[in-house]
Amino acid sequence: MAMRVFVAGGSGVMGRRLVPQLVARGHQVTATTTSAAKLGLLEQLGADGVVMDGLDAVSVGEAVAAARPDAIVNQMTAISMAHAGKPDMRHFDRFFATTNRLRSEGTDHLLAAAQANGVSHVVAQSAGIWNGTREGGWVKTEKDPLPFETGKFRTAAEAIRHLEEVVVKAGGAALRYGGLYGPGATDDMVNLVRKRMFPLVGGGTGYMSWVHLDDAASATVLAVEQHATGVFNIVDDEPAPASAWLPCLAACAGAKPPMRVPKWLARLLAGELVVTMMTEGRGFSNAKAKRELGWQLRHPSWRQGFEEELA
Ligand SMILES: NC(=O)c1ccc[n+]([C@@H]2O[C@H](COP(=O)([O-])OP(=O)(O)OC[C@H]3O[C@@H](n4cnc5c(N)ncnc54)[C@H](OP(=O)(O)O)[C@@H]3O)[C@@H](O)[C@H]2O)c1
Repeated sequence: MAMRVFVAGGSGVMGRRLVPQLVARGHQVTATTTSAAKLGLLEQLGADGVVMDGLDAVSVGEAVAAARPDAIVNQMTAISMAHAGKPDMRHFDRFFATTNRLRSEGTDHLLAAAQANGVSHVVAQSAGIWNGTREGGWVKTEKDPLPFETGKFRTAAEAIRHLEEVVVKAGGAALRYGGLYGPGATDDMVNLVRKRMFPLVGGGTGYMSWVHLDDAASATVLAVEQHATGVFNIVDDEPAPASAWLPCLAACAGAKPPMRVPKWLARLLAGELVVTMMTEGRGFSNAKAKRELGWQLRHPSWRQGFEEELA
């Protein structure tokens, strides 16, 4: 059945793939940006564009009230250069500060607007990248708890935890996207890999899960249409250690093999998060999303996906 869907953050790399899929399924989409200059892009994608600040409760309330949606999808982050400046993983807490607020306060504003306007379902982007519990098996399900973090990771972990808790409590779905790749999603990373400035750390033993933007978008459409509730890992079929995916990514991008650096040096150059991800990171299982949403991936593994996107 056709629905009215409100996509908060419809102009980002994810929104730009999600909005056309929703429109192609017959849904009427309202999509938001913080910049009036991007309203034309949203119209081209097939949505009604609206300017909204996700950190301003009044702005969110007005935008949702005007759209009168059946469902709200939260795709708001602030990771691009325009919102967060140059990527700075050494100061992860600073670099992610606005994204953390969008995940906590921004989600709260959307849920308040949903309640005020009788919107019964919310789907929100969560993360399954750096935040798997770093003990036990290498691949985590939704039943594995997210770790309590301290230091620089604490605020980011708490924001993700908050988003998941309030969305699921409200009867919605939190989608833990793996590392996104596809049009525009890994440009900064690939540039570094081409310059041999993205090395393998230690033995590259840490796992990661990837997912193509279009597969993450199709899972999101299913979650909306099925009124899904709960947490879902939205990742591809092949969680893999950095020692496998990074050389493949470099080869697909036509770059020389990545250099190797010891942990202590990487810690100085890139910060703790990068070292942790590359040596102790965990991957995620997509069994629940396949089973419960009937999700089928067009890009089951990053092996073929990187080749198609980066060659
Ligand atoms: N799971 C993952 O791997 C993952 C997840 C998310 C992002 N990323 C990566 O992060 C990089 C940047 O992503 P991106 O290009 O999508 O940009 P982004 O800066 O993260 O923006 C995403 C969306 O959030 C919106 N937004 C930002 N601040 C907002 C605010 N205060 N209120 C309401 N909406 C707000 C943006 O709108 P406007 O910019 O139009 O104002 C945009 O629609 C990409 O490389 C992407 O792959 C990765």
